[in-house]
Amino acid sequence: MDKFVVLGGNKLNGEITISGAKNAAVAVIPATILSDDICRIENIPNINDVSVIAHILSEIGAKVRMINKSTLEIDPRNIMSPVSSSDLMRHMRASYYLLGSLLGRFSRAIVALPGGCDFGVRPIDQHLKGFAALGARYKVEGGVVNIEADELIGNNVYMDVVSVGATINIMLAAVKAKGLTVIENAAKEPHIVDLANFLNSMGAEIMGAGTDIIKIKGVDYLKGTTYSIIPDQIEAGTYMVAAAAAGGNVLVRNIIPKHMESITAKLEEIGVTVIEYDDSIRIIRENVLNKCNIKTMPHPGFPTDMQPQITTLLSVANGTSIVTEGVWDNRFRYVDELRRMGAKISVDGKLAVVEGVEKLIGSSVKATDLRAGAAMIIAGLMASGTTTIEGIEYIERGYENIINKLTALGADIKRIRVQEEEMAKAL
Ligand code: EPU
Repeated sequence: MDKFVVLGGNKLNGEITISGAKNAAVAVIPATILSDDICRIENIPNINDVSVIAHILSEIGAKVRMINKSTLEIDPRNIMSPVSSSDLMRHMRASYYLLGSLLGRFSRAIVALPGGCDFGVRPIDQHLKGFAALGARYKVEGGVVNIEADELIGNNVYMDVVSVGATINIMLAAVKAKGLTVIENAAKEPHIVDLANFLNSMGAEIMGAGTDIIKIKGVDYLKGTTYSIIPDQIEAGTYMVAAAAAGGNVLVRNIIPKHMESITAKLEEIGVTVIEYDDSIRIIRENVLNKCNIKTMPHPGFPTDMQPQITTLLSVANGTSIVTEGVWDNRFRYVDELRRMGAKISVDGKLAVVEGVEKLIGSSVKATDLRAGAAMIIAGLMASGTTTIEGIEYIERGYENIINKLTALGADIKRIRVQEEEMAKAL
């Protein structure tokens, strides 16, 4: 298995271009199942999660082909069965969007339970509650969800927790249901708006995405479309924090600054200069970093998917910061790895007390999940000496070309084969 090796201490300077949003792409791709014609999706990020979901679609009969480096063409007309039992389902969370999409198309879905990053229990009760409100019956047995409806009929769904996945899945199931569906207490993340825009571009009638009440008027037919995915908010935030951590001056391009507001506000509080342009943001870090308290929350709050990266930055800030995880039960597992690098962080349940230290020290660490992996890279960039990161398959699930993008900014980061590392030690 390959590893990343980071030699810390280089400042980051230059420009970086952000790819299409992972969490939008992994919703839009299965949503094409609902289309009655061919769809072209542009600005697709070249990451493993996208390959896996595209592969799952081709396994159930869709014709999927890459037209160019970032455009995917999907013809869903040959999908004949509502069953997806692929082993691949267990590799990624977003495979559960097959539930809403297949149910919406066939009034039936038989789908293996999803996998994905482990942040503690990841229930799907709100998804099932939504499907049931639309008239579906379900059974969960032997790791498979089996759902069926005589006919899907629009209804009011009040979500007990704000869930990105459940909001998306209910939208997918409701888009061709009979009558009006109203989702209350809906999630408001940018990728929810992106999915609604994609479905509307096919002829769906979805109103209110981006607010906590989404109204979906069912339609009979969805035409083919060409649609471009929004830029990745979390990829952009990760590079903004990386630039703040390493120091230097970086222009982060192809972003929607509005999506970055919660991250921008916290970086400014920490003492980083953030200059916003129409579709880019410049990060300049010259001074010491200040402590800062952060609580993650559903959008427009500070995103949980930026929590490991910002906590890593705060590990070298002046003073003691409190980071509260407001979304997941168990998202501080990576802290043990940061401690190996000299960070002083104590965790009590969903709360981390981060006592800033002067410097992190390069060490051997592992990526415990996708964003934790990004945090390890950030730690490596600002540490003294060499940091070796295992578990890079997590990182490559969600970050396109991360080595090249960071190297172009002046970072010293390489991907090596374990055998090469052993040989280097022997020399
Ligand atoms: N929850 C329930 N019941 C449900 C669904 C969720 O109790 O039926 C709870 C969860 O346990 C959690 C909270 O609701 O405490 C939020 O979960 P949500 O459903 O919003 O998360 P998700 O849809 O499974 C997506 C992203 C995650 C991101 C979360 C929160 C995708 C593919 N994944 O997950 O992204 O952390 O929303 O913003 O969109 C990542 O990209 O690294 C990542 C993990």
